[in-house]
Amino acid sequence: MEKGITIHYQPQLPIHPRPIAIIGAGGIVGGAHLPAYQKAGWQVVAICDPMIEKAQQLADTFHISQVYDNVAQLVAQALEEVIFDIAVPASVLPGILEQLPPRAVVLMQKPMGEDIAGADRILQLCREKEFTAAVNFQMRFIPAVMAAKDMINQGLIGTLHDMEIRMNIYHPWHLWEFLFGIPRMEMLYHSIHYMDLLRYFLGEPKSVYAKTVKHPKMMQLASTRSVIMLEYDEAVRAFINTNHGHEFGLKYQDSFIKWEGTKGAIRTTLGLNIDYPHGVPDTFEYVLLDGNKTPEWQSVQLEGTWMPDAFGASMANLMCYAEGSAPVLINHINSAYKTMQVVEAAYASSDAGGTLVG
Ligand SMILES: NC(=O)c1ccc[n+]([C@@H]2O[C@H](COP(=O)([O-])OP(=O)(O)OC[C@H]3O[C@@H](n4cnc5c(N)ncnc54)[C@H](O)[C@@H]3O)[C@@H](O)[C@H]2O)c1
Repeated sequence: MEKGITIHYQPQLPIHPRPIAIIGAGGIVGGAHLPAYQKAGWQVVAICDPMIEKAQQLADTFHISQVYDNVAQLVAQALEEVIFDIAVPASVLPGILEQLPPRAVVLMQKPMGEDIAGADRILQLCREKEFTAAVNFQMRFIPAVMAAKDMINQGLIGTLHDMEIRMNIYHPWHLWEFLFGIPRMEMLYHSIHYMDLLRYFLGEPKSVYAKTVKHPKMMQLASTRSVIMLEYDEAVRAFINTNHGHEFGLKYQDSFIKWEGTKGAIRTTLGLNIDYPHGVPDTFEYVLLDGNKTPEWQSVQLEGTWMPDAFGASMANLMCYAEGSAPVLINHINSAYKTMQVVEAAYASSDAGGTLVG
């Protein structure tokens, strides 16, 4: 790193961590939520899943004492200060929220419903029941993303005017049975993270251009490739380009976020998506313009990565907000709802099609 530059990217941690009760014992809970909480030293007191053997297996691995096959029992036994951490298919999310006690503190996995009507219902439930609620857009807490945010806030790269998120990867969709047969897939379940991230850095877009398409070898999935552009002012470009069907080895697999400003640029590769689920190491680089000097990219070794660190940081922010030590709930349900509006607009754009030629 260049002299005189300091990058802050460590999350604030809670003074009094709360116990956690987990709803859903699927891949992401075992692969990211529980390892993150274990790393942080937080107590997970309960877990439930209708497939109780999955819950039991995670309970055995991560030493969780209470195991249930339904939400009602978990809620009945829950301590008052518990945080409910939900990671289930979006279709069952509203039914679960209905069963939580008033004024609960809740972290729910994206997406916030299957469409904007689902998001409306979830928002209404959270307000009626006075939940302190966040949606787990944990990409905002990836160490490299926090580092980029800090550099941009410090003004180091000048005015941000270009953001590109590119994923050219091979995704093992067969791991998620519930994604087959649903009407919306790639943009709702995957690119939603990137739309949320563009909003996090650039604010609310004026409009969205998008096209999401199938892959000839994945015809059972609604779509697996998307190009999405968010419209801002005339000198801002913000777009997402995803292809989950790049089955041609690792050489040209890509997984990066790039920020360009008037005075510099930042680029990070997110190794997790490459050779998924094994992953490769992340990179973080930046360049600052200096008069007529040839621009030179600097490489920085950051501590931590998307899984599990971003999952720990996302939960930490909710705990801090709930105890009053953090003023802002970064993934507040109100912000997540705006991301759902962008997703809805992306589907509307894709369905409407482009301008006809001739
Ligand atoms: N980076 C991320 O943010 C990320 C990554 C992967 C998945 N996810 C999200 O997490 C959620 C779960 O994904 P996954 O990969 O673990 O899927 P999964 O299919 O592996 O697991 C889902 C689990 O939910 C359980 N379930 C279904 N209905 C339930 C109910 N009423 N109560 C309790 N459990 C119930 C299922 O039995 C299953 O074990 C999805 O919404 C997905 O979008 C987020």
